[in-house]
Amino acid sequence: MTTANLRGEDRVLNVVWPNGTSADFPFLWLRDNCPSGFHPDTHERQFDLTSISPDLVASGVSVDGGNIVITWDGEAHTSRFDPEWLFNHRPGIGLEDPAKVEPIHWRGNIPQEDLPRADAAALMSDDTALLGFLIEAKRTGLAFVDGMSGDADAGMAMARRIGFLRETNFGTTFEVMSKPNPNNLAYTSHALPLHTDLANQELPPGFQFLHCLANEAEGGGSTFCDGFAIAADLREEDPEAFRLLSQTPVPFRFHDQDYDIRRHHTVIDLDPFGNMQELHFNAHLAGIFDLPAALMEPYYRAYRKVMQMTRSQTYVLTTRLRGGEMVIFDNRRVMHGRAAFNPNTGFRHLRGCYVDRGEFDSRIRVLSRDNS
Ligand code: OGA
Ligand code: ZN
Repeated sequence: MTTANLRGEDRVLNVVWPNGTSADFPFLWLRDNCPSGFHPDTHERQFDLTSISPDLVASGVSVDGGNIVITWDGEAHTSRFDPEWLFNHRPGIGLEDPAKVEPIHWRGNIPQEDLPRADAAALMSDDTALLGFLIEAKRTGLAFVDGMSGDADAGMAMARRIGFLRETNFGTTFEVMSKPNPNNLAYTSHALPLHTDLANQELPPGFQFLHCLANEAEGGGSTFCDGFAIAADLREEDPEAFRLLSQTPVPFRFHDQDYDIRRHHTVIDLDPFGNMQELHFNAHLAGIFDLPAALMEPYYRAYRKVMQMTRSQTYVLTTRLRGGEMVIFDNRRVMHGRAAFNPNTGFRHLRGCYVDRGEFDSRIRVLSRDNS
């Protein structure tokens, strides 16, 4: 049986569940999260925290019909909590998240069959297959789809099955092919060294979808590397370089006739807990470094070191996209590149689009809900 006891001196309610787990819930937290304070349809909080005193005290507690019932001192209000709901929201632990997938770092020697790969028709029609694929794609940050139709919109349709598309200055989708008057190196036949796309944006796009419609020219092979693996190794091998790259913002810039989009980012972006959350690495969009002169050389050395790692077989996976194949990768983690190709020897056309991480994660959560 669940038991609930007030500990007034600590201003908490202590709950012990039948499985022996015990947790403390501070009074203010309980009052702020009283189920009566949420709109029944929208689930949004309507309770106003300033309507109560920060010294509010719970005056009584009972377990009634399976609910934990709290009365409040000086307030004609009763709060009823479902013990399971309280268990799922324990302070310091919080709500379980199906989209919280631990990344598995990979390096150049990963067998390609270890990377997630699925059939387009299955992903389009089967929610369970899609859910499993999305979770695996999050784990590695790199996944492949086979059997895409020759329809130029097929990549977009797959991406839209996951979430709405992230539009950029290149459009909702972008055509990667050799074009006259290119405004991006991707639209030439030149090699593209490993990079993350659009590091010049306030928030660079999350997941990138590149649907290969044709890859018949000589050259044009693809490269990928796991930026998290590179950053993790750098942290071990050269902590000072890691520190510089994670603490020094540098400028990125794209400009053409219509746009001038600039943003400073650190190359390695850590979350408040020190975990890697994003990588911004794009030598062709790197702006003119504007660090104080004395910092330039140490920074360049650290930056060059990462660049060298992106050239090393230790990290780089090489493959060749076939017509009908699509690659999906986390653009803020996995770098991508390509070899030069000769447009006179055949046609090469990839069609790309992006779905941000937030929408990707939301899809995982909603599909997990349906499957539970
Ligand atoms: C791009 C890009 C890769 C390729 O369009 O940003 O990196 O294989 N393309 O052409
Ligand atoms: Zn790119």
